[in-house]
This record gives sequence, C-alpha cells and structure tokens, in this order.
Amino acid sequence: MATLRIVPNSPPSGVTARTEPLRPTTPAEEADSFDHPPTILIIEDIDTNRRLLRGMLKATPYRVVEARRASEAFSILAGGSVDLIIVNLLMPEMSGLEFCRRIKANRTTQLTPILMLTSVQGVESEIAGIASGADEFLTLPAHPDLLRTRVRAMLRNKAAIDTLEEAETILFALAQAVEKRDQHTGAHCERVAYYSVALGSAIGLPPRTLQALHRGGYLHDIGKICVPDAILFKNGPLDEQEWVIMKTHTVRGEEICRPMKTLAPVLPIIRSHHERWDGSGYPDGQKGEEIPLIARVFQVADIYDALTSERPYKPALSRDSAIEILEDEARRNWRDPELVSLFGQCVIELGEKDTVTESSFQGSLLNMQQHLAG
Ligand SMILES: [Fe+2]
Repeated sequence: MATLRIVPNSPPSGVTARTEPLRPTTPAEEADSFDHPPTILIIEDIDTNRRLLRGMLKATPYRVVEARRASEAFSILAGGSVDLIIVNLLMPEMSGLEFCRRIKANRTTQLTPILMLTSVQGVESEIAGIASGADEFLTLPAHPDLLRTRVRAMLRNKAAIDTLEEAETILFALAQAVEKRDQHTGAHCERVAYYSVALGSAIGLPPRTLQALHRGGYLHDIGKICVPDAILFKNGPLDEQEWVIMKTHTVRGEEICRPMKTLAPVLPIIRSHHERWDGSGYPDGQKGEEIPLIARVFQVADIYDALTSERPYKPALSRDSAIEILEDEARRNWRDPELVSLFGQCVIELGEKDTVTESSFQGSLLNMQQHLAG
C-alpha cells in the first residue's frame, strides 16, 4: 500500500515517499457505528492529490465528495450535510487557513471538524492551522493508516456532538411545541430572546451569557409541559391550588433541562424567571441580587413582551405604557430598578415593536444569532 504523499502546490516539499508495507485497517476498525454513512468533503485543487486521498478512503464506509476550490466547497456545504472536511493548507483561490476561519465563523458549519493537510514542514504551519480553527493537522507524507485513524477519531467526536445537538434540538422543539399550544403567544420566544440579548448586551454581559439568554427565550417555560391544560388554558383566574401547580413549571423546567450539561448556563433563567426583587416571587423567594442577574435581565424582557402583545384577556399595550408598568413594578420593589431603567432606553433604541416589520425583526434576529454563534 502506498504512503500518502501529496503533490505540493508551492513550495515543493522535497519529502520522499516511504515505501515500507503497511498493515491495512481491518473492516472491524473501519465499521464504526454511524446512523448514516458519514460524508467526507475533500478540498484539493490538484487531481493527483485528490485521487490519492480518495484511494486512501476507498475501503472505508464513508461517502467521499470532492471540491477543487473553496467556492465549490462552500456550495457543497450549503447543499447538504458534511461530517468531516479535509482541506489542503495551500489552495489557489483561498488559503486553507482563511477557509477554516470562514467555516468556523458560520453557525451552520462551525461544528464540522476540519482535518488540514500540508506538505509544508514546520511547526509554524501547524500552529497557524490550529489557530485558524482546524481541528486536526497532518503533515505529509503520512501513513494511510494514520490518515484513516485520524478521520475515524474525528468522525467519532462528530457523532457524539451530533447526538448532543439532537438532544438539544429535541428539547427546543419540545419547548416550541409548548409555546405553540397557546396560540395567542405567537413569536413570544423569538421576541423575548431578542429583547433579553439586547438588554444583556447593553450591560456588557459576555457572549456565553448572551447565548444563554437567547436560548432561555425558547426554553424558559418548557416546564409548562407538566402543567395540565385545564390550568394552562383556564378562562378566568386560577384558584390557590391551581396556582401551586402552575408555579411548578419553573422547577420542572429546570429538571427537564438539567441533564444536558450544555444547557447549564440557561438553568438560572428557567428556574428564577418568576422571582421578585422583594422576595415575593417563586419558586425560591430569592431577594434582590440573590436572583441570578441573567434571570433578572430575562424577566424584564419577558414581561415587556407579554405587555406589548395581544392576549385574549387584554389588548397589546404601547411601548410607553409597557415601560410605565415596568417602572411601576420597579417602584413596588418587584423588579431590579436599574435594569428596568436601562431596558427603557434599550427599547427606545431598538424601535417600537409595532414599527418593526416582521422581516426586519427576523433579519435582526438572524444577525444576532450569527453574532452569538461566532
Ligand atoms: Fe414562566
């Protein structure tokens, strides 16, 4: 079996191929369990190199697709799922480093692992490759088994990440299903995510916390799945016993999301978004700064959106009326007064909800999501 020796673009590697016989990988080693044949995208402009790489992966259970240049690769990535990218450091249209940076800056491709190949010897190339976002780096010539082993290990990690993502996706779908059962709340999740991230940004919260606020917009009421419809959709005020059950949605929601470690930053929002500054809220009766800051930020946005949205039992209030009510609640010692004051300035800058068109709102939301992902 030949050693993988990529023909260099420039500069020439001057490295000779090794000729010792190699032990082929066994079918058992190759037959990792995937729920679909993983797709590997090879990006290489030199035909000989692409053929060599394809040959090295021929006996594996993977589906291999090829691109000659970065623009072709972006089209393939936009059109379907790719589980692993193999890219040469040196490419004519765009360097492998720039390509990596773009893949990792894009929310839809950032979790796709990248194996960077190069014939250029030296630790500097490897450092630059990893710094640009490549997950693994392989200097050529390389043993074909080494290439396949790297590929297999990277695909195993990808499969684990996919599983985590799937679990998160299921939770988000569940949360949206809960929200959509109440036909009157409309795009409440999206709007609360939008407003809470805006307020979080205004007070300088770090990107990880902003991302948690964004996710909290969708997940905060997931615990309502445990509340009977007769209570959730009751026409008229809840009695004392019904309120006790309704209030459990905070703790139940936290219990549902706690097993997902990636959702840990969102848990304080789910549990504490009904606490009050004076300690009269639920479920823990936390007071003032005992209430996690992220939950206080979220709460202001949540209340504002509820006030400015039409519900069967009330019309949509204007921005100014909603801010007045929030300020009144701050005076009554229910809300963090500084956050309420800052939020008032925030929504003025964002523009009144009624004047924000759906398309411009969705555009802003998309920009924000990409910014957070980056
Ligand atoms: Fe809630």
